[in-house]
Amino acid sequence: MTKPLLDVRNLAVSFETERGRAAVLDGVSFQLNAGETLGLVGESGCGKSVTSLAITRLLPKPSGQIDQGEVLLDGVNLLALSPAELRKIRGPRIGMVFQDAMTALNPVKRLHQQMAESISLHAPELSPKAVQARSLELLNDVGIPSPELRLNDYPHQLSGGMRQRVMIAMALSAEPDLLIADEPTTALDVTVQAQILALIQRLQKERGMAVIFITHDLGVVAQICERVAVMYAGRIAEQGSVADLFSDPKHPYTRGLFNSIPHLDREPLTELPTIEGLVPSPFDMPRGCRFSTRCPQVTERCKQSPELQFKQGRELACHEVSL
Ligand SMILES: Nc1ncnc2c1ncn2[C@@H]1O[C@H](COP(=O)(O)OP(=O)(O)OP(=O)(O)O)[C@@H](O)[C@H]1O
Ligand SMILES: [Mg+2]
Repeated sequence: MTKPLLDVRNLAVSFETERGRAAVLDGVSFQLNAGETLGLVGESGCGKSVTSLAITRLLPKPSGQIDQGEVLLDGVNLLALSPAELRKIRGPRIGMVFQDAMTALNPVKRLHQQMAESISLHAPELSPKAVQARSLELLNDVGIPSPELRLNDYPHQLSGGMRQRVMIAMALSAEPDLLIADEPTTALDVTVQAQILALIQRLQKERGMAVIFITHDLGVVAQICERVAVMYAGRIAEQGSVADLFSDPKHPYTRGLFNSIPHLDREPLTELPTIEGLVPSPFDMPRGCRFSTRCPQVTERCKQSPELQFKQGRELACHEVSL
C-alpha cells in the first residue's frame, strides 16, 4: 500500500472558554492520498473547521489546544514542528481557504502585494513582472472580472464572493500538495462555483494535488470527492468512498443527513425529512454515542461509545448497524 500524503491520527482539540474547557474534537482520524479529494461533511458546529485549523496549527491562541494526536504529512508530524518549520509547510505544501475570507486576507494590503507574497513563497526567482502576470492569471482562473483593475484594491473593496475567490487564488498560487478548502464556494453563484470546482479538479489532475473539501453541499461532494467523512459532534461517524456512502449510508446520522437532500423524484409538496434536535454543545455531550440523543435507532448499548467497524475501506461508529 502507498503511504498516505496526510494521516490524521486520533486528533483531540479543546478550547478554554468562560464556561471552562470545551472538548471539541475527540479522536478524529482519517487519511488522504496524493491526488485524492475527501469531503468533510456534518451539521454546523460538528468540528469541520476546527479539524482544518488543527491540521494547519492555526487554532486561535491561547484558547485552542491540541490535546492529543498526530498529523503526519508525508510521515512528518506537523504537531511537533517549530513555528519556523511550519511556515515552510503552510503555503507551499498545504494551501488553506478559510471559511471566513475577510479574516484571512490582510485588510491593509492591496491585493497585488498579498498575492505577490504568496506567489514568491513558491517561486522566489520570479521577477516582479512575472509575479504580476501570474497574479493576473490566477485571478482570471478563479473568474474575477477585470483582474488588472482589481489588483490595486484592498480586500474591503471586494464583494464577499470575490474575496472568497481571491482566497482560493492565493491558496493555489503556491502550488500546494494539499488544499484544505473550508466552504470555499458558499458565497458564489452556481456558474462561478462550477468554474472553481473545475479549476480544482484540473489542478488535481495536472499536479496530483490532494483536497479536503469542507461543505454542506452533498451535491458538490458527489461531484468532486472520491471519499467522504461524516462528522458528528467532534467525532467521525462514518467514512468511506462516495459511491458506497451515497448508495448505502449506514450510520443513522449519515442516513438522516442524506435524506434531507431534496430530490426531484420526491412527491411534490411532501415535507423534507429532517433530523430532530440539535448538535449537543461540548458542555453537554451525551455519554457513549454522541448521536444517541437524536438517533431513531437508539438502544441501551448506545450509552457506551461504539467501537469502530472497518470493512473494505469503510469505517463506521455505531452499535446498532453493521458494515
Ligand atoms: N475559538 C473557539 N472557542 C471556543 N469554542 C470554539 C471556538 N471555535 C470553535 N469552537 C467550537 O467548536 C465546535 C466546532 O466548531 P467548528 O467551527 O469546527 O464547526 P463547523 O463544523 O465548522 O461548523 P460550520 O458548518 O458552522 O462551519 C463548536 O462547538 C464551536 O462552538
Ligand atoms: Mg466551519
